[in-house]
Amino acid sequence: MEEITKGSKLKVFVEKMSFGGAGIARLDNLVIFVSGAAPQENLLVEITKKKKRFAEAKVLEVISASPFRRETPCKYTDKCGACQWQQFDYQEQKNQKELIFHEMLDKVDFLRGIRINSFLSGEEFRYRNRIQIRTKSKKIGFFKKASNDIVNIKDCLITEEKLTAQFNSILKKYPSTKMQKFELLYDKNDEVILRKDKAHGEEDGFSQVNNQMNEQMQNWVLQQISDTSNNGKIYDLYAGNGNFSRFLENQGLENSLFAIEFSEAAIQRGKKLAGSESKIEWLAAKVEDVVKKIKADENSVLIIDPPRIGCDEKFIDSLKSTGAKDLIYISCNPSTWIRDLQRLREHRDFDILSLDLLDMFPQTYHLEVLSRIRLK
Ligand SMILES: C[S@@+](CC[C@H](N)C(=O)[O-])C[C@H]1O[C@@H](n2cnc3c(N)ncnc32)[C@H](O)[C@@H]1O
Repeated sequence: MEEITKGSKLKVFVEKMSFGGAGIARLDNLVIFVSGAAPQENLLVEITKKKKRFAEAKVLEVISASPFRRETPCKYTDKCGACQWQQFDYQEQKNQKELIFHEMLDKVDFLRGIRINSFLSGEEFRYRNRIQIRTKSKKIGFFKKASNDIVNIKDCLITEEKLTAQFNSILKKYPSTKMQKFELLYDKNDEVILRKDKAHGEEDGFSQVNNQMNEQMQNWVLQQISDTSNNGKIYDLYAGNGNFSRFLENQGLENSLFAIEFSEAAIQRGKKLAGSESKIEWLAAKVEDVVKKIKADENSVLIIDPPRIGCDEKFIDSLKSTGAKDLIYISCNPSTWIRDLQRLREHRDFDILSLDLLDMFPQTYHLEVLSRIRLK
């Protein structure tokens, strides 16, 4: 066989999708990650990167299309890097996410064969309530894949229309030939807000971008808490603006609520949203720095919702000292969720009492893992 190098053109069969978004094809011992692929199809691809064990490729021609392939609903997908999976239908996107997750679980002894209760999902388009956009010389949009050029777009199908409807007026108001950055969002009162030169979360800290799925996630948390029948303290760790603690308080839960989060901005936002009657106790700190001070007991629940990098080792190692036995671990990265559970397992046995998946970001490979864990 001819040596495969950058620029080689090959016929491949894409078996399935990978966590990261690309399709997976194999030639002898080489794994080829093909961007823009769909599962179960034959493609002519061009190698764009070649390493010893793997290569990356782009599609030149679809030889026999995946049964799930569709015309991408968004006409900018080929250039824009935001959605990796528009080229195949939504049900199959969910199937692939589940398959990827099962394969990850299968690699770990104590997770193999574990049952996933449900895969929660909602609208596949128009779900984003916040985006970051750039403008430059009459162009408005996102960065092109792996570049600092703007893809000029008139609409973005995963974003709520109320936001994309602002594109023209933003361009008129800011016609500069210099690159400008904006955050465009709307708040709970339906008011559209445009912030110039702001990076994600700079102003108010983290907030969930998909309202419909966030509500499902909050309700899942509520259900898990009632399943524990615990009436003790609830710790909302990595609390952001108190997305879970405020929701639980609004549902009338009488448990004492504590929210720990390191972003002051998020806490200020949370306090404002919670209002003056709220009894939530807020603490601005890194959870790993204060975990040893948590005075929980067997009736307490810890809600753990870290960013993609997962939890700090120090936090996992100190979890047992809190006294709590019920953990609700929500993760936006299955790899770090698994890593953290492996770490926890090193010094504490536990059962996973409930495991569900949730699709917060349709058209992308991202996946939320919702788990309830009982320490033994
Ligand atoms: C995935 S977000 C979840 C926020 C919130 N639970 C929600 O549902 O909106 C993770 C949050 O953890 C915060 N964070 C990251 N590392 C942290 C740490 N070491 N200690 C405390 N908070 C942290 C981030 O600022 C962010 O608000």
